Amino acid sequence: MQFCLYRSECVFCPFDLQDLRILQTALSENSKNRLTGFLHRNKTHYFQYLEGPSTPLCETFEKIRCDRRHINLHVLLEGRTLSRRFSEWSMGYSQEQMTAPFSRLTEDSTAETVIAFLEREAFKQKAFLDSPLEMKRRNGTFLH
Ligand SMILES: Cc1cc2nc3c(=O)[nH]c(=O)nc-3n(C[C@H](O)[C@H](O)[C@H](O)COP(=O)(O)O)c2cc1C
Repeated sequence: MQFCLYRSECVFCPFDLQDLRILQTALSENSKNRLTGFLHRNKTHYFQYLEGPSTPLCETFEKIRCDRRHINLHVLLEGRTLSRRFSEWSMGYSQEQMTAPFSRLTEDSTAETVIAFLEREAFKQKAFLDSPLEMKRRNGTFLH
């Protein structure tokens, strides 16, 4: 299995519909291609970790590299791995507005810092989705 971590500059503002479109494509394509990962964006940058079998990973990464919805893509780390970091996410997603100011990513963040950050975001979201209240809400049993 291969993984790739990159940073790029967003072309669209936060909350633009393009992010939703990117996420919709990522969710449907990645589950077909057995890819998993996590995408974070702040006001100016995307940070994405993508992992899975090497052929679909390379093909998808080439599409992402050519995508005009971001520019100046810079690979922070890539390589082989035996296990997945984001096995439960076809593509997890978080925005800076949801994160604490002291833990924000910047252009200077190292690969290790970015990975630790994305793992923390994935963990927080999983804990939220698995919380009893959220389960009830999604099952339609939440009492308003
Ligand atoms: C920041 C960013 C992240 C993306 N992440 C993925 C992804 O994880 N998986 C994916 O299939 N496409 C992703 N895309 C979309 C691809 O660039 C591309 O639009 C998509 O694979 C469909 O390509 P096609 O229409 O040529 O098949 C991403 C695009 C951007 C800008």
